[in-house]
Amino acid sequence: MTELAARLAAIEPFRVMALLARARELEAAGRSIVHMEIGEPDFESPAAVVAAGIDALQRGRTHYTPAAGLPALRESIASYYAHRYGVDVPPSRILITPGASGALLLAMAALINPGAKVMHTDPGYPCNRNFVRLFDAEPVSVRLDAADGFRLDVQRLREAWQPGIRVLILASPSNPTGAVLDAGTLREIAAFAHKRGATVIMDEIYHGLVYGEPAPTMLACTDEALVINSFSKYFGMTGWRLGWLVAPQAMIPGLDRLAQNIFLAAPTMAQYAACAVFKADTLAQLEERREVLRQRRDFLVPALRDIGFGIDADPQGAFYAYADCSHFSDDSQALCERLLEDVGVAITPGLDFGAHQASRFVRFAWTTGMAQLEEGVRRLREALS
Ligand SMILES: Cc1ncc(COP(=O)(O)O)c(C=O)c1O
Repeated sequence: MTELAARLAAIEPFRVMALLARARELEAAGRSIVHMEIGEPDFESPAAVVAAGIDALQRGRTHYTPAAGLPALRESIASYYAHRYGVDVPPSRILITPGASGALLLAMAALINPGAKVMHTDPGYPCNRNFVRLFDAEPVSVRLDAADGFRLDVQRLREAWQPGIRVLILASPSNPTGAVLDAGTLREIAAFAHKRGATVIMDEIYHGLVYGEPAPTMLACTDEALVINSFSKYFGMTGWRLGWLVAPQAMIPGLDRLAQNIFLAAPTMAQYAACAVFKADTLAQLEERREVLRQRRDFLVPALRDIGFGIDADPQGAFYAYADCSHFSDDSQALCERLLEDVGVAITPGLDFGAHQASRFVRFAWTTGMAQLEEGVRRLREALS
């Protein structure tokens, strides 16, 4: 028997994967399933991106790029920060990575020593705590509550803080809650972390997908944070596996060395394709998609409330509602299984996102079309009324 590393036992599976596998099984047997569990919208990558990817292949752009990424793409991202946020980020601070996942891995590899403590939100993105365990460090959670719109503030940080916390990992807009942090809160969090000698990793993967005020970037508040973003969500390129990391200039040589060793470079074809995403008409198309997502949110959230799910505040970003299902069950995992089996509606149990009140919450994603959402709501009413 091959002896596996002990850390493997600490890595939790995504509960939703078992549900998704069961959903696929039911579909193969002819059942219709409404998918509200999937964390990527149903849109294809923009046509200009696909054309640029094909063009790159035909021109033989099939070799490694520098580990930090194509210079042209790093420059495009820098000018995107200048135009969209009015923030000056030199291309030399931007590293291109295989998805936000690659950026998270680089950032954590650069910052976390074995035994260190890393603070993350509960609920929050599941990989964060798993990555912390991968580096033999200890995840420490700060709990967020529905009554505050699941928004983190310095008061909560202060209460949950422990000696030995070196890193604070946050996301705005958040998965699974859609909560967005305002600029004042970001500045306070940055100052709080600075005072305690901790580094902030800010995951901005859902930037662009906001339904009210644009989400402010941590880069406007401090030069000390590491900021993660991706071409996956707003830019519609999940399968291309491309993201980026902005880090303090002094950390770049070390991160570059890590990138060389961990993945050599992000996918070349994807990098050429991503250069096309910043063209005005492609950005306009992405804005139209955001409007489609807003319409879906504006339909789904009130409908879920009407059925009896608790959603205190409208999600302001991403494409998720984290809904209190305690009116129907005190076991959200069992409820998800029942809804899938009985009426063919797939949603994600709270347990995937942490432990805090997890059995009271489920996540709905409006990543499928309006007709499907309407059908999903009809089935939920049928099952739960
Ligand atoms: C908060 C958050 N961060 C990071 C990721 C990873 O995204 P990717 O590696 O596709 O860029 C996801 C994916 O769902 C996410 O929700």
